[in-house]
Amino acid sequence: MERMIPVDRLARPEDHILVPLDKIRETRLEQGLTPFNAMPYEEDFLKARLHGICAGEFQAMEAAGRSLFDFPDAPWEFQLDMARQVWDESRHAEIYMKLLEYVGSYLGEFPESEVLWSCTQIDDPACRVAGINRGLEGLACDVFEQLIRMAQKMGDPVIERAVDYVLADEITHVRMGSRWMRKLTEGDPDRLKKAQAFQENIDNLFNFGGGRTSQEDAAQIKQRLGDKEVEVDATLTIAREARLLAGFTDEEIDRLIKGMSKSAAY
Ligand SMILES: [Fe+2]
Ligand SMILES: [Fe+2]
Repeated sequence: MERMIPVDRLARPEDHILVPLDKIRETRLEQGLTPFNAMPYEEDFLKARLHGICAGEFQAMEAAGRSLFDFPDAPWEFQLDMARQVWDESRHAEIYMKLLEYVGSYLGEFPESEVLWSCTQIDDPACRVAGINRGLEGLACDVFEQLIRMAQKMGDPVIERAVDYVLADEITHVRMGSRWMRKLTEGDPDRLKKAQAFQENIDNLFNFGGGRTSQEDAAQIKQRLGDKEVEVDATLTIAREARLLAGFTDEEIDRLIKGMSKSAAY
């Protein structure tokens, strides 16, 4: 079997669109829209946000499976962690499919981006877990924590509890990533630097035009969610508590907030 398979080999129904994030952004701008539809100021924000997460869960499941297959010489415990992650992500994918249905959407309503899969195109397990488990699943902690607070404001215990359940798993996945990034690069500072730089690229990609803040400093806007108009964070916040639980240091989180508050990527 082939290692490091390209994105077009992923099994998707024929009517699903799977393209690079830049392509989605460009097409939206050409149509006179904002670059991302999963932002709190957009009308179909909740559907779009849940859709992005659901597609991410599928790719996370597929990617953990490929990391298991692509690195047969990695420690057995690494492989066991990847296998466990496939199982976790498959449950998450099922949960988010149900949540999509719950808000009147379905998988395939919006385009799916290739971001997570792009992290599998590197032949080093330390970089993979740095990019996927620390970069993208760290981002998932931010997204999920914010979604839980929104669900609380909406008075929606279904979304609140479902997302909280998934967040608990993501925290363990980030910890797993931190552990393996360090263990696999022990005694090899250059390799560690490479893995950290790989993660940094992913973090920068989700700067969303700058202005990301801590939960306390987030500007508020009014948004209709479900049948209620509620005040929500204007941008994606950074979840300090969840990230601390996931093994990020205060210093790492401060640096992330500082970097994200500037318009760097776009
Ligand atoms: Fe997940
Ligand atoms: Fe995960």
